[in-house]
Amino acid sequence: MDKTIKFLNEKTNNFKPEIGIILGSGLGELADEHCEYAVPYNDIPNFVKSTVKGHKGRLVFADMQGKKVVMMQGRNHFYEGHSMQEITYPVKVMKALGVKTLILTNAAGAVNESYRPSDLMLITDHINFTGSNPLIGPNDETLGERFPDMSEVYKKSLIELAEKCAEKLGIDVQKGIYWANSGPSYETPAEINMIRKLGGDAVGMSTVPEAIVANYCGMNILGISCITNAASSSSGEKLSHEEVIEAANNAKSKFKSLILEVLSNL
Ligand code: HPA
Repeated sequence: MDKTIKFLNEKTNNFKPEIGIILGSGLGELADEHCEYAVPYNDIPNFVKSTVKGHKGRLVFADMQGKKVVMMQGRNHFYEGHSMQEITYPVKVMKALGVKTLILTNAAGAVNESYRPSDLMLITDHINFTGSNPLIGPNDETLGERFPDMSEVYKKSLIELAEKCAEKLGIDVQKGIYWANSGPSYETPAEINMIRKLGGDAVGMSTVPEAIVANYCGMNILGISCITNAASSSSGEKLSHEEVIEAANNAKSKFKSLILEVLSNL
């Protein structure tokens, strides 16, 4: 960690972010538009390389709405073959840089039948169905407890703030529970039925490992899913990564304005 932080401090002239944002599939444009320093993951000591199309793979530092922000433009996923510990290392790096509030974003499939593609969903809670946990292994007591409480991972006050911001901007938002699978295969219709019965509103392949680690190290978390598709196909229609990226593209202008409004009110 010392090596990573020293490297980033050198590259960014000691930029000290207070807010972190992890940008999901198709939502990375915010980091193109607000960029003072950009550091590719491939250059950062101890970071793993990003391999997914639509994910750029760099840390971007910028002043936004008067706040010092670090953004992950693209993230690493468990399904790429990285360990849970590797994919959540950047959250620990953000913590070490001084980040107190983390905004997690993703593209997700709708399980709740009232959701439509390009809807935004504020995450109220999650269900970890990845079959793993990033905190498995020896615990670093300087970061957090062995058995962290998970009763309010997504901070109520931040959800309320995001709702108010959305209302001010005239953006309709959903609120719901994010279900995380490991991927990379999308879900079968039977799996979607199960997720719906067990309380999931949206399903995706990210975010939850990062939320577990950020909560563990005491960060305030806001989670926003961009609904990109009706999860699986009881209708028989096939789902593709291109469709997911296209829907995220359609939602990106309201997504960006919501994030900027939230930042100015934090
Ligand atoms: N399932 C899982 N992950 C996803 C989906 C989906 O339908 N859409 C975007 N990410």
